[in-house]
Amino acid sequence: MGPEQSIHIAILGGGRGGTALIELFTRCHGIAITGIADTNPDAPGLRLARNLNIPATDDPVSLVSDMTVDLIVDVTGNPSMPALIERHKSARAEFLGGTAAKLVWSLIQDERDLYEHLAHAEKLSTLGTFAAGIAHEFNNPLHMMLGFAQLIQDTQDPASVQEYIQEIVKQIKHLSNMSTSVNLYARTSAQGELVPVQIPKLLDEAVRMAKFSTILDEVTVIPHYEPVPDIQAEPGELLQVFMNLIVNAVQAMNARGRLTLRTCMENGSITVSVEDTGPGIAPQDLAKIFAPFFTTKKTGKGTGLGLYIVDTIIRKYGGRIEPRSEVGKGTAFRIHFPVAGLPQQTVPSSHPATPASI
Ligand SMILES: Nc1ncnc2c1ncn2[C@@H]1O[C@H](COP(=O)(O)OP(=O)(O)OP(=O)(O)O)[C@@H](O)[C@H]1O
Ligand SMILES: [Mg+2]
Repeated sequence: MGPEQSIHIAILGGGRGGTALIELFTRCHGIAITGIADTNPDAPGLRLARNLNIPATDDPVSLVSDMTVDLIVDVTGNPSMPALIERHKSARAEFLGGTAAKLVWSLIQDERDLYEHLAHAEKLSTLGTFAAGIAHEFNNPLHMMLGFAQLIQDTQDPASVQEYIQEIVKQIKHLSNMSTSVNLYARTSAQGELVPVQIPKLLDEAVRMAKFSTILDEVTVIPHYEPVPDIQAEPGELLQVFMNLIVNAVQAMNARGRLTLRTCMENGSITVSVEDTGPGIAPQDLAKIFAPFFTTKKTGKGTGLGLYIVDTIIRKYGGRIEPRSEVGKGTAFRIHFPVAGLPQQTVPSSHPATPASI
């Protein structure tokens, strides 16, 4: 995608229509949401906008008269809105309302369904390759439990029995944690609830999960976690993001090298980075890696959907991802998330439409 100018869109109406428009437009390259207005300051669309640091107002006139707006989309259903828009909009701003807005709305529903199927399919495909890894990870504790149970059968010493039981309890807890992680990952929650997510905890979880699909024995995992605020998200979605990046990194390093995971605050945004010491990405490939179905892996090894899903999920939370790569040295993927409720340092329109090059 080229560095063409973004289209600046103002959304009127913070109900289901406005909420869906925000979800769609934040996913699209080349679109910047100037703001959303609804006379009800508690409308769900306004709340979502505030979480994503998109300007939200209860005064439609101020938004409509914004000179930077290219397109005004009215999903208020309020019959007096078109006249108000005509009165206050700048001459160059176009206006989409009525049946045309309804048409856009129904296209969005279809697009959203399609994307959700794709994201789910990607998840299932990784779960498929997990199966052997999961069985392996579950087998170890099971064998240990069997061993301790046999020791209990053979011992008369109450102190030893206590000790073996403690070991068994430890293994059961370990198994239970693993099954919780797998469930968290496998679950799809289309209308998922947003909950506060501790990013470092989820990164550690992603490393544990990555063990199901790649071998991490010879990878040194280096966590550098500086404190960052929680982000409001669906944990399963962020887990999918981190796992995809970690699995890519480990695969690139051929299961041998250093994997550095960082969290920190940078320019007022939450920054997460996943860095590897792999072969890097060729400059001509760097612009393509987020495109669906782009893969350099052998047929049957990769679908090329991983980074596409990663990018889409991050955009959904108002964030962006930047790859930096040096051939022969390694690759770092840096993710920036806005802190809810804090003014953003960069205006949405300045988000790069293409990943930053090295
Ligand atoms: N850490 C990395 N180091 C080097 N190349 C990478 C790295 N991460 C991604 N790539 C490149 O980007 C391509 C696309 O990655 P993506 O995760 O979208 O798909 P995939 O890993 O090939 O397949 P899938 O994730 O669907 O199994 C990869 O094939 C690889 O060429
Ligand atoms: Mg991948």
